Amino acid sequence: MGPWHNTIFLGDCLNAAKALVESQSEKIRLIYLDPPFFSNTDYTLKHETGGEGSRAPDIQETATYSDRWQGGLAEYLSYLRIRLAVMSPLLRDDGSIWLHLDWHVSHYAKALMDELFGYSCFVNEIVWKRTNSPKPQSRGFGSQHDTILVYAKDQSKFRVRPVYVKHDERSLRPYMYDDDKGRFRLIEIEAQGIQRSQRRKQFEWRGRTAPYLYRLETLDEWWDQGLIYKSKNDRYSKKQYLDDVPGVPVSDLWLDIPPVQGASDEYTGFLTQKPEALLSRIIECASDPGDIVADFFAGAGTTAVAAERTKRRWIACDSSEVAIQVMEKRLSKPTNSETGRAERAFTVVRV
Ligand SMILES: C[S@@+](CC[C@H](N)C(=O)[O-])C[C@H]1O[C@@H](n2cnc3c(N)ncnc32)[C@H](O)[C@@H]1O
Repeated sequence: MGPWHNTIFLGDCLNAAKALVESQSEKIRLIYLDPPFFSNTDYTLKHETGGEGSRAPDIQETATYSDRWQGGLAEYLSYLRIRLAVMSPLLRDDGSIWLHLDWHVSHYAKALMDELFGYSCFVNEIVWKRTNSPKPQSRGFGSQHDTILVYAKDQSKFRVRPVYVKHDERSLRPYMYDDDKGRFRLIEIEAQGIQRSQRRKQFEWRGRTAPYLYRLETLDEWWDQGLIYKSKNDRYSKKQYLDDVPGVPVSDLWLDIPPVQGASDEYTGFLTQKPEALLSRIIECASDPGDIVADFFAGAGTTAVAAERTKRRWIACDSSEVAIQVMEKRLSKPTNSETGRAERAFTVVRV
């Protein structure tokens, strides 16, 4: 294990990133950042005290961090800019940076990221549905999503691993055909709509002239493999068998990861804690086992926990002592039920 891996930095991430520049330049595969959102709110950790015997426990709140900016938006954006600029050289060429925000500043952050990482290195704006019950608003609609901006260090070297979720009743509906090889749906092989009117070259194939989307050799191959379906009106389509599809491909709309519930095992009481499933998805699609994953606004340590689970090395940082305590406790949880021993090793460094 190299220096700084599985390390928690306590202090400003600007100092942590500066401390890492010498040894970790171009070494980090993935940086996930969930900074304050410019929400004008003070955040706390909720925890229970007392509650012996028949007495119900009291809920106490301890301050964790403040998301208030005397200098307004300009101060916030400059704070973000300085830190992003120092983190950028830490990324590997095939690495990426994921910036988690919401409506307060995500549009400004997009412009900032375009400037720092390059407009052409923009990969996605992921919309994560973060609550099932948005608060009713007197003006406008209740907000229900966060935004995660994804940038590649080098667009030509970065690849995201596709993610699939299980089919549901709706996604199975198109699979309405079957033959001796199983259930299948039909995929268009001719240009449709606007593509059709864009003067796409037509050619004749097995008695039908059409603006085909694939080369003649490919169509012949599929025909030989029994993958072409001929409809009653002599149109061809390609069969896609349900057994050949790993699930429904996930798009940039992430509706399937619920927020952390108070009753769940992962709940820490840290108010802005993100779900492990969200971080696991990000880590698994943008890095490989053994890679280094960093989170410079680590809060309750969700990224480090997910990195441990997915066998990545990690670097975490937070300026709040309370956050670091929560993180340490979480990462030291005994994982071996037989020995009851904590199996996780990490170092805490003050910066
Ligand atoms: C939205 S929370 C992160 C929550 C985290 N993703 C989780 O799942 O628990 C933002 C965190 O950034 C920390 N923070 C704010 N400014 C910081 C700075 N300059 N350096 C390091 N951490 C900072 C706060 O203390 C807070 O814990």
